[in-house]
Amino acid sequence: MNVTLKILRYNPEKDEKGHYETYSVEAEPTDRLLDLLEEIKGHQDGTLTFRRSCAHGVCGSDAMRINGSNKLACQVLIKNVGAKITIEPLLGLKVVKDLIVDMEPFFDNYKKVLPHLINESALPADGKERIQSQKERARFDDTTKCIMCAACTTSCPSFWGNDDFLGPAALVSAHRFVFDSRDEGASERLEVLSETFGVARCHTAFNCTSACPRDIKITQAIGELKMAMVTGKLD
Ligand code: SF4
Ligand code: FES
Repeated sequence: MNVTLKILRYNPEKDEKGHYETYSVEAEPTDRLLDLLEEIKGHQDGTLTFRRSCAHGVCGSDAMRINGSNKLACQVLIKNVGAKITIEPLLGLKVVKDLIVDMEPFFDNYKKVLPHLINESALPADGKERIQSQKERARFDDTTKCIMCAACTTSCPSFWGNDDFLGPAALVSAHRFVFDSRDEGASERLEVLSETFGVARCHTAFNCTSACPRDIKITQAIGELKMAMVTGKLD
């Protein structure tokens, strides 16, 4: 089948504003959109710029707007998006070039929630690991699946309105540690989340949950953080 890709191009070093360029590619219905971008870059226009690495939905580097929705290009099959595809960079982050956005503010917000295990207590008497039951591990299993692709945060109207908002991805990372029975940093993290740019900025639009390529129940996780802040309970 012949596929037409309309891609928003922008080089801040040369262009005053972005413009669309159109490419035509022969493809199989089972090809992934990333394959078509590679075809364009390799054989039609080497200046087209986008991020990618694993090509298997693991690294999170090729999130972009595909026909208006945030998705990973390596997870989108042509048969599921049709023969006319519009591709644009993620919204809410500065465009570095074409489909590449500046992820620094995104990772700055991530760092604010202390996304690492905090435990200053001595190890158990046997000096080995801190044991966790299956139930305790299951409590935060969903939010361990995050690959930091930013599809959620850049689909969030609250983030578009104020990029000081931590955003769903940072909140997902906070959830992953707040509900980990081995962690002792929950109160410190919840303090960060209670500030003006924290969970209160989430207005449950559900855009994040719809955009997540890992099917993480993001809005539910944010709701659980809000509840923990109100009740002080972490179970
Ligand atoms: Fe991507 Fe989902 Fe993680 Fe958000 S929660 S960064 S959409 S994997
Ligand atoms: Fe790694 Fe798509 S290239 S997630």
